[in-house]
Amino acid sequence: MELKELKHAFAEAYNQQAQMVYFAPGRVNLIGEHTDYNGGHVFPCALSFGTYMLLAKNPLKQLRFKSLNMPEIIALDMEQLTTPLGGNSWVNYPLGCIAQYLKRGFHLAEGYDILVWGNVPAGAGLSSSAALEVVTACAFNDIFGAGYDKTELAKIGQLSEHEFAGVNCGIMDQFASAQGKKDHAIYLNCDTLDFELVPVKLEGIKVVISNTHSPHKLDSGAYNDRVAQCHLALEQLRTVRPNLKNLAELSEAEFVQIKDAIKDPVALKRAEHVVGECQRTIDAVAALKAGNIELFGKLMCQSHVSLRDNYEVTGLHLDTLAEEAWKIDGVIGSRMTGGGFGGCTVSLVKEEAIPAFIDKVGAAYFAKTGIKADFYVAEISDGVHKVNE
Ligand code: GLA
Repeated sequence: MELKELKHAFAEAYNQQAQMVYFAPGRVNLIGEHTDYNGGHVFPCALSFGTYMLLAKNPLKQLRFKSLNMPEIIALDMEQLTTPLGGNSWVNYPLGCIAQYLKRGFHLAEGYDILVWGNVPAGAGLSSSAALEVVTACAFNDIFGAGYDKTELAKIGQLSEHEFAGVNCGIMDQFASAQGKKDHAIYLNCDTLDFELVPVKLEGIKVVISNTHSPHKLDSGAYNDRVAQCHLALEQLRTVRPNLKNLAELSEAEFVQIKDAIKDPVALKRAEHVVGECQRTIDAVAALKAGNIELFGKLMCQSHVSLRDNYEVTGLHLDTLAEEAWKIDGVIGSRMTGGGFGGCTVSLVKEEAIPAFIDKVGAAYFAKTGIKADFYVAEISDGVHKVNE
């Protein structure tokens, strides 16, 4: 949808003109999966898909929310802004961000009409919820005059996810949505939040996202279980290494020496993945910087195997897309991206091989699952910003 149409929709919904417009992108992660909440590195980039938020003051002392994907307007009084709504309402994502400002002592003196529209494919694991959180955090940063930097906006989004959506996620998605930069991936240390923007302009190679259309369910269930299993592994390792801060702190060699301390077999597998993935991410970024794209691709494939066998977050749909991609000439690497259980894979594909990639992977996937996959050539774009008209 064009900005003009969004403004028109705003005027139709609220009978007044929008005064401010913001945009925050979704993300795709190239490597470093389920490392963020273990203090490891990740390597995501922001996409051109994302969420727009249009706002204008109203005289009602209410916040009114409308999504163009939903029929109704949800109106909340000022005293309703610090508790989540029931029924998994989408409003909890923005509301959770506004609540963070209120908790920090900022006062909302006036009501606002808010309209959102996003074009991140739904349920694709490309962080539509992080985009909605970060766009809200950014808009209300201006409204409250809080002056927070983009890292703080990401933290506000993450807290909203924890407290209002019940998902104990790491910082990756919100960080990528906030700090993304066109044609760059973000090499983020999730322990310190230090980061480096690394160019991803690959000669003759594109980042291709393949959508399983098997909804990823990043609910409080399977994802939070993984987070808890990692905590258990960490606790058990602390019986022999009391000062261990997080799983990412261990090199693979150190891990081999002390891993017997993990008595729970599931927690052990999860820790195997995390320690290996942390190293792979460091190695992959070094390879990319050195121009060794083949090695980068190989590490992506190893990442998928570990997510499949040790972390157990892939399943038929993601495995089929990745494994079929590995068979195609011109595919440098392919793996699941994001939380898993459905959603998307990310592949590096030589430009001339993209049509064959789409044909063959799409056909094999359909034959196995009966579902038509979708393919997008990723446009790596900027993080959250105010849209200037
Ligand atoms: C989801 C979470 C992130 C991260 C990934 C897995 O996208 O929101 O914090 O943990 O899964 O890497």
